[in-house]
Amino acid sequence: MSSSTVITNIATLVTNDPSLGDGSPLGLVQDAAVVIDGDRVVWTGESSKAPATDNRVDAGGRAVLPGFVDSHSHLVFAGDRTQEFNARMSGRSYTAGGIRTTVAATRAASDAELEANLTRYLDEALRQGTTTFETKSGYGLTVEDESRALRLAARHTDEVTYLGAHIVSPDYADDPAAYVALVTGEMLDACAPHARWIDVFCEKGAFDGDQARAVLTAGKAKGLHPRIHANQLSHGPGVQLAVELDAASADHCTHLTDADVDALANSATVATLLPGAEFSTRAEWPDARRLLDAGVTVALSTDCNPGSSFTSSLPFCIALAVRDMRMTPDEAVWSATAGGAAALRRTDIGRLTPGALADLTLLDAPSHVHLAYRPGVPLVSGVWRRGVRVV
Ligand code: NIG
Ligand code: FE
Repeated sequence: MSSSTVITNIATLVTNDPSLGDGSPLGLVQDAAVVIDGDRVVWTGESSKAPATDNRVDAGGRAVLPGFVDSHSHLVFAGDRTQEFNARMSGRSYTAGGIRTTVAATRAASDAELEANLTRYLDEALRQGTTTFETKSGYGLTVEDESRALRLAARHTDEVTYLGAHIVSPDYADDPAAYVALVTGEMLDACAPHARWIDVFCEKGAFDGDQARAVLTAGKAKGLHPRIHANQLSHGPGVQLAVELDAASADHCTHLTDADVDALANSATVATLLPGAEFSTRAEWPDARRLLDAGVTVALSTDCNPGSSFTSSLPFCIALAVRDMRMTPDEAVWSATAGGAAALRRTDIGRLTPGALADLTLLDAPSHVHLAYRPGVPLVSGVWRRGVRVV
């Protein structure tokens, strides 16, 4: 039997329902309450109107928002790349080549080591308010190693992405076409049962537009939905391909032409921005303002991986997006919650309205704005996941 709980005395509640509260995209309700029954939200509104419930939690005049939705991470890996990071901070630039270091470490690791690593970063993310996460393979690049990564990931999330096309496997360095045939053939057959999504790194040094199209099309034919690493390090065909194939998300979007921005604005494809990557590679920031002003739906995610962005913290990404990508605090919070949900084509998360999953983050602050205003401060003081308090 489920029992109901009211969280009351919330100074600022972010519902992400513009029909509530102040009518802004965040649907902000002051002096609010949320009622949870089982794993769902059943009521949101002003505290004084909250219905009677079995249990009561006093939020103490602090802020509550939907749990963060991290729609892009790479958490099945072993080892780290401290040396590469150090070299970059002394002036070397980021390339896709470093991925090979992690591939070697990941292949050498046992299932138990990989899962312990994955769990560690998931716990870390949960403590920072992330209640839904997507994660990818891409550090195995053999039939066995890619399918094992997805099998391990699927024990922890439904949002699992097959990224056999991360880079051409070093074993196929002389024959990239044969590697694409493997990724779209035997490897796809082994991986598809464990995944919801298919992804490809469309970039110089990884896969070109034709190869990326072949990968995503083969995945679609197997029932996987496309998403793509696009336009991260340079201009390229990735964003246009994403729109052409109705990808749920085009991720990175750092180097965009006006035509790319127009294509995104006239599509259902979300632009997922990953400021942790620009931070950790000292690269140019994506122009979030340009995308938002054009009407593109923007998500914010961590891209957590040992190479280009070793952070699991969406609060940190929100602070970067506000400070360096010209997003307002409201936009950044929306993008890390409702935006992430849109990038995963989910309507049951990223909002706090009746029927949504009861995924909530309680901040030790009176409003969500403090996530950007107080960067680096651990403000998350409570997390409910599927109705259960876990932090
Ligand atoms: O999203 N761009 C490709 N993949 C990752 C980086 C992976 C790595 O460097 O290990 C990214 O930034
Ligand atoms: Fe990535």
